[in-house]
Amino acid sequence: MVHEFDAVIVGAGGAGLYAALEASKTAKTAVLSKLYPQRSHTGAAQGGIGAALGNVEEDSPEWHAFDTVKGGDYLVDQTAAKVLAEEAVRAVYDLENRGLPFSRLENGTIAQRRFGGHTHHFGEGPVHRSCYAADRTGHMILQTLYQQCVKNDVTFYDEFHVVDILLEGTRAHGVVAFELKTGELHVFKAKAVLFATGGFGRMFKITSNALANTGDGPALLARAGIPMEDMEFYQFHPTGILGMGILITEGVRGEGGILKNREGERFMERYAPTMLDLAPRDMVSRAIMTEVMAGKGMRGDRKIDDYVMLDASHLGRETVEKKIPDIADFCRTYLDVDPAVDAMPVQPTAHYAMGGIPTDTHGRVDTGRAVYDGLYAAGEAACVSVHGANRLGTNSLVDLVVFGRRAGRHIAEYVRGASAPREFANATDASRAKIGGLREKKNGAHVGPIVQRMQEVMMTQVGVYRDQAEMDDAIKQIQELRDEFKEVGAQDTGDGFNAEVLNILELESLLDLSLLTAAGAANRTESRGAHSRRDFPDRDDDNWLKHTMATIDDDGVVIDYKDVDLGIWEPKPRVY
Ligand code: FUM
Repeated sequence: MVHEFDAVIVGAGGAGLYAALEASKTAKTAVLSKLYPQRSHTGAAQGGIGAALGNVEEDSPEWHAFDTVKGGDYLVDQTAAKVLAEEAVRAVYDLENRGLPFSRLENGTIAQRRFGGHTHHFGEGPVHRSCYAADRTGHMILQTLYQQCVKNDVTFYDEFHVVDILLEGTRAHGVVAFELKTGELHVFKAKAVLFATGGFGRMFKITSNALANTGDGPALLARAGIPMEDMEFYQFHPTGILGMGILITEGVRGEGGILKNREGERFMERYAPTMLDLAPRDMVSRAIMTEVMAGKGMRGDRKIDDYVMLDASHLGRETVEKKIPDIADFCRTYLDVDPAVDAMPVQPTAHYAMGGIPTDTHGRVDTGRAVYDGLYAAGEAACVSVHGANRLGTNSLVDLVVFGRRAGRHIAEYVRGASAPREFANATDASRAKIGGLREKKNGAHVGPIVQRMQEVMMTQVGVYRDQAEMDDAIKQIQELRDEFKEVGAQDTGDGFNAEVLNILELESLLDLSLLTAAGAANRTESRGAHSRRDFPDRDDDNWLKHTMATIDDDGVVIDYKDVDLGIWEPKPRVY
């Protein structure tokens, strides 16, 4: 079946929905998602969206931009960080006007809490900048934007998984999608295509990411020959629920929660004397791992699955139930722990990809060597780059509303002047052959063991701490797994709701992105932000103040570089 739209948005999280909302003001717009939109992973974002509203204390977008650059260990494109911080304020009021039920201060203005790495006066101390709706901020953003899109007559294709991009040189003409309900392939011709497919935390064993976070957009474009930017920078959130990785919001520490080791010591006093538990995530995750490796984790056995405690019990039941009700529920359900009474066992959890599809500040795919026509990306799938080597908490929601909106506006303008998408003869042939081939290998290898080994390798060898030998071995193992993957077949040969075929396609994406991540990490011989090497412990601005641009094919990864926009603040050592 062939469909024709002005704009096709792939992914229905916050970035995709905001882009669709803006594009749909002038363009006939469709949103394709392998999920139902309300189940998108934006809904899992808890603690808030950063914006310098100054409702609790003095604040400024300039301080927010500076914190973003410093938090990202100076690998951030600084003009983009300014756009992020300045437009965050307007974006929050826009969401409020569209009906988002923010938590409120006594005086009726939007409530704000502290979050890691967010400071006043360029680092003097923590600031209340995160605007929140209890601990369901992402959920509320998602619902608000979805309702607005429905109101704006955006057409939704739910449970459609995109399997191919129709590209001619550097011009996009549409996508091919697999309808999960029927197994049918659909061609979506479009003047503009935007990928907002979210992150790919499922490459790691312990992750806060949903099962669906398999990086389908970045992987698809990488296979089409587009280099991915800064893939080696993968963020571990310090506080995942022990053994499960489910997020315990940084908002707990923003409200006054404290991390403690097995001796009951507030160990962050030794690592970040000013910001303490609200230091940036890379530093807190490393501090936890360092405590664990020193035998001060809760089991004391120096293993990667050892953990520390997050204590919020002193906040009192009223604060816990009002400010972090979902967290309290998760802890009761999964751990049988009541955070108003007992501390929560936590460990770092794979949370967020700083890298991804390279874009400019309008969301256009921009590799540094070419800007693509009609091809856009936004949200976690994209790398603008506003997060550099380490994203600050709350800046993911800012990123997706600010740059989702900007991309949507650019698309609305672009499609007005763009020629109609061109016909592609046999547009579905490659995808049909690929999916058909899986069914022919009915007795082939299974995804399960490959997934398990990939997640184990990435977690233990390309995790919080890294070194050359482990990463080189990880690359070798991931390549072996990519070879094994060629023998994978689908035992389910049916057409309707064939989840096995979907899982196989998702695994292909994760393997490619794992290789890009490991290869970028092994290549970067310094420590910066979330990329922390035991064998190269220092940041090396002379040689490495540059973005990685990594291209993948069957044989491996080829690495090139792109300049960082350093126009505003001079790189300095990070002290918190
Ligand atoms: O901790 C959190 O609530 C997560 C927020 C984020 O990743 O920005």
